[in-house]
Amino acid sequence: MSAPVSTAAAPPPARRKLRRLLPYFRPYLGRTLLTVLLMLVVTGTLLAGPALAQIGIDDGISAGDKAVLTLAVVAFVAVGAVGWLAGYFQVYLSSWIGQRVLLDLRGDTFTHLMKLQLGYHERTPTGWTVARLTSDIEALNQLVTEGFTSLVINGLTLVGVIAILFAYDAKLALLAFIILPPLALGTAAFRVISARLYRRTREKNADVLASLQETLSGMRVVQGFGHQEQSAADFAEVSGEYRRVHVNTVRLSGIYFPSVEMLSGVATAIILYFGATRVLDADLTVGVMVAFLGYLASFFDPIQSLSQLYNTFQAAMAALEKVFGVLDTEPDLADAPDATPLPPARGDIDLRNVTFAYGDDPVLSDVDLHVLPGQTVALVGPTGAGKSTLAKLIARFYDPDRGEVLIDGHDLRHVTQASLRDQLAIVPQEGHLFAGTIADNLTFGRPHATEAEVRAACEAIGVLEMIEAMPHGFDTAVTAGGTGLSAGQRQLIAFARALIADPRLLILDEATSSLDLRSEAMVEEAMDTLFAGRTAVVIAHRLSTIRNADRIAVIDDGRILEQGTHAELLAGGGRYADLYADWEALAV
Ligand SMILES: Nc1ncnc2c1ncn2[C@@H]1O[C@H](COP(=O)(O)OP(=O)(O)OP(=O)(O)O)[C@@H](O)[C@H]1O
Ligand SMILES: [Mg+2]
Repeated sequence: MSAPVSTAAAPPPARRKLRRLLPYFRPYLGRTLLTVLLMLVVTGTLLAGPALAQIGIDDGISAGDKAVLTLAVVAFVAVGAVGWLAGYFQVYLSSWIGQRVLLDLRGDTFTHLMKLQLGYHERTPTGWTVARLTSDIEALNQLVTEGFTSLVINGLTLVGVIAILFAYDAKLALLAFIILPPLALGTAAFRVISARLYRRTREKNADVLASLQETLSGMRVVQGFGHQEQSAADFAEVSGEYRRVHVNTVRLSGIYFPSVEMLSGVATAIILYFGATRVLDADLTVGVMVAFLGYLASFFDPIQSLSQLYNTFQAAMAALEKVFGVLDTEPDLADAPDATPLPPARGDIDLRNVTFAYGDDPVLSDVDLHVLPGQTVALVGPTGAGKSTLAKLIARFYDPDRGEVLIDGHDLRHVTQASLRDQLAIVPQEGHLFAGTIADNLTFGRPHATEAEVRAACEAIGVLEMIEAMPHGFDTAVTAGGTGLSAGQRQLIAFARALIADPRLLILDEATSSLDLRSEAMVEEAMDTLFAGRTAVVIAHRLSTIRNADRIAVIDDGRILEQGTHAELLAGGGRYADLYADWEALAV
């Protein structure tokens, strides 16, 4: 299975991706501008400190002017307070905006995922889709809440420090910045190597997660086949690789960050020595020298932060690309612009000359099938014949490649999906339950069903007794997937759910195959209730279900070989007659 990727051949440059993110900030434009303003204030207060110290020392202490000294100290404290306040609001606001942006993006992605046809979800591993909405959005979180802030404040601080130092004393600034070339080289190397390591870390982390997920979801098979040791060994191997890569990143940081500290120490030493010499020569004031030391101290932190930001940025760009990849996947089955709601259906299903392929080879070829309102049609045929596919076309999970699927004469391509799904219910082979109560699950297709209706439906399916025997009856909580209930119990609930939804069209895809004989007999009785007044398409393997159908279609290799009533087909002496002879022989 290959994960779908966006169609663009080359990954679009980061700038284009960021520009696509911009509309998500638009609703919060005012707040965003305010945040940027606050960032400027924060940077300003950061830069003001050493300059105030310089004034206090030179114009206060050295000049013996206590008033100036007091003023400088008061200003220093005031600036600190303003910086603290502005910092608080800035951090709060950028997180607020960031979370809103992510909420909107996550919501859009989720909504879009539900619009994508079943085919997309059948092709795409669930874990992959989950990662789009969790770890990828999380990678963006770092960028939008902290990354932009760090970029603006640290970038401005760097530029500001350089400008101020040169304004104070160009000669001394040049001396201090002797350390810039090795710093720039080291930082560039760090950036390149750490980006590579970081990408490897993420890859290995994904391997660990994939291995974990695979083993956990296949635990029954792992334990059933005594495969624990091998699974543990596989897991140990991927975890071990993850550890190795991770240690390398730590080693790299261990070299880089102390090196920056060391260069910072060198720069300080240079200023102390040459600055002090010039102070002694009365060529430089003490205040300027102190300011130099102060500014240098605040020069190195931004460099470290910015070099780390690069990884955040890379991860966010990779994540953004994947998220936009999902958003760019066109829902094939979007409503046509001129789609109209399907009027309340009589239930006439007509497939005309339908040909369909998932990939290149047709799975259905030239299928013609007409089911009259209220009729039950049974699809019979060997495994892989295309029965479920035919059912999916009627439910319009896919569109045919050629031919048309009509309900009451309306081509499904021209009706709105909502109006179709309102009138149609599917009971698949595996009854799926959602986390919630039994009652929630029963009313999934019609949330406003009354309690009496729910009970009546359960009674008709023969599941009422079973539900009432549960600890909290209808309010018993079930987990997602319905673990804790047997396959048969889940299936009976799925039948009741379909009956409560009261659809005009009903599709059962091997819905009885997980039931024991008694439950099956019960459901078969209930089928009369279930089918009364509806058109039903039933895929079944059991003869009793098939025999009662108004019409039987025998499918093999994507073609309808023969169709008619049980009696007609038996008399015809074709494929169905052969199958029936086999059944007879088995049912001794
Ligand atoms: N999502 C899919 N993508 C690609 N091929 C598929 C997909 N679903 C089914 N197929 C293929 O289409 C063919 C028909 O499958 P289908 O599920 O319709 O068979 P079926 O008659 O329902 O079989 P069974 O009785 O085993 O349920 C098979 O060859 C199958 O491999
Ligand atoms: Mg099937």
